[in-house]
Amino acid sequence: MRSYSILAVAAFYATSTRALNNGAARLPVLGYNTWNFYQCNIDEDLMITTANLMKDLGLQDAGYNYVNIDDCYSEKDRDANGFIVEDKVRFKRGMKWLNDEIHALGFKTGIYSDAGWQTCAGYPGSYQNEVRDGLTFTEWGFDYLKYDNCAIPYDRITREGVIGRFRRMAEALVEVEKQTGKALVFSLCEWGWNQVWLWGADFGHSWRTTGDIDPNWKSIAKIIDFNSFITAATDFHGRNDLDMLQLGNGHMSFEESKSHFTAWALMRSPLLIGTNLSAITPETLSILKNEEILAINQDPVVGKSISPFRWGINPDWTSNKTHPAQYWSGPSSHGVVFMLLNTLDEPATLSFNLTESPWIRAGRQYAIRDLWAHTDNGTAIRQITLDNVPPHGVVALLLKDDGDEPEGTYPECAKWWQCTDRNGTIIGGHLVDPQLKPVDLRLVDQANVVF
Ligand SMILES: *[C@@H]1O[C@H](CO)[C@@H](O)[C@H](O)[C@H]1NC(C)=O
Ligand SMILES: *[C@@H]1O[C@H](CO)[C@@H](O)[C@H](O)[C@H]1NC(C)=O
Ligand SMILES: *[C@@H]1O[C@H](CO)[C@@H](O)[C@H](O)[C@H]1NC(C)=O
Ligand SMILES: *[C@@H]1O[C@H](CO)[C@@H](O)[C@H](O)[C@H]1NC(C)=O
Ligand SMILES: *[C@@H]1O[C@H](CO)[C@@H](O)[C@H](O)[C@H]1NC(C)=O
Repeated sequence: MRSYSILAVAAFYATSTRALNNGAARLPVLGYNTWNFYQCNIDEDLMITTANLMKDLGLQDAGYNYVNIDDCYSEKDRDANGFIVEDKVRFKRGMKWLNDEIHALGFKTGIYSDAGWQTCAGYPGSYQNEVRDGLTFTEWGFDYLKYDNCAIPYDRITREGVIGRFRRMAEALVEVEKQTGKALVFSLCEWGWNQVWLWGADFGHSWRTTGDIDPNWKSIAKIIDFNSFITAATDFHGRNDLDMLQLGNGHMSFEESKSHFTAWALMRSPLLIGTNLSAITPETLSILKNEEILAINQDPVVGKSISPFRWGINPDWTSNKTHPAQYWSGPSSHGVVFMLLNTLDEPATLSFNLTESPWIRAGRQYAIRDLWAHTDNGTAIRQITLDNVPPHGVVALLLKDDGDEPEGTYPECAKWWQCTDRNGTIIGGHLVDPQLKPVDLRLVDQANVVF
């Protein structure tokens, strides 16, 4: 009897909590966010200019369809009735007007608030005003809410952990949807201090996993390293948010920018551009518009992140902020995706066996698509070697099943420890204790690989 009621409670908790994630956006959100380049120097003209640039530069056509305002858009104080009001100078025509303008250009729009008393820049936070603010943002016409984690009240006021503090807004958004029919995309900005990847999906579309990104390779490598251990948290229900895209800010080489974009997109992070669009180069645009890589980020059928299958120069499962995992793969509806990173400061050769990736079928050959060269690069049997990968550079490949591997490919199996004749002989089992199994040494070390 007792265990029955505990089960009932658990089932209630599971449904009621997951029901707070309204699934308002099933795929990673693509768009623009003001914080990284402009911080508080934002106004309605900038937002209109940004939306127009997103369109004129072809970014909207590429899928970047959100234009998001970050911190600093409001007056420092709520009005006499307790409502957040737009900054009377910088957003003088009001958010409703602004949203109408930007929506008319075909975009969705995002706004920002905070789980504490104040936002990180000291503007009103939504603590104890969650439903009211959710209604305000909805009435203003926003589609998306980024929710930050600054100025948290004393423990004796909240009597909650971080989950309880973010749940307040998740519950409020359910109420707002009930009242208005509008489901805001809820993006948690919790900075990853409290294992948000374990509970963020109960509430929202995505959750930031680290502190703020900086526009340099050091920061990119550090974020890739951190996220390499928690890729399993990402799927359609919600995703690790690796923070804004920083390519094109002038502090990264072309190769570093490609690596940054590839890692973010293939880890199925939201992709929000955080640079000065007026100064964007054709080179940066060509990266942001890589449609083959965006297609995987936006895959409507498979929502999983790529994950490392081998760390490379460092032992597997080593966290190293400057030298993250190098060999990654993941499933997609287009084929098996591979990301190979050269984390060294000099060119390197990167080589892997196909079946190191769990999504590869043994005994099959694969057609290789290079997602940066946009070329078909022949057929891989068992193994791929990439010469001369540039410093901090990336190779992104899509492998499509291309039928049985050629008759007589040796050894019989790509993984010798999973290769047994029906009579019990382990083929190529030179590492197996000869006391335990008969060993056929003829086939040892004949790895005959082709690329
Ligand atoms: C953005 O880039 C444009 C073009 O280079 C430049 O005129 C403008 O000052 C930049 N904006 C800021 C805030 O630096
Ligand atoms: C990170 O990995 C590189 C390459 O193996 C190594 O040289 C460096 O010492 C490592 N850093 C730390 C802090 O272990
Ligand atoms: C694929 O072929 C193209 C065109 O020859 C080349 O630029 C690219 O480097 C090749 N990719 C790989 C992974 O070898
Ligand atoms: C068992 O299988 C191996 C590998 O196919 C073969 O070389 C060996 O002759 C077989 N042994 C017997 C007793 O059939
Ligand atoms: C790749 O396959 C070859 C041939 O079976 C094997 O010797 C090698 O250890 C494998 N490498 C990795 C990293 O699994």
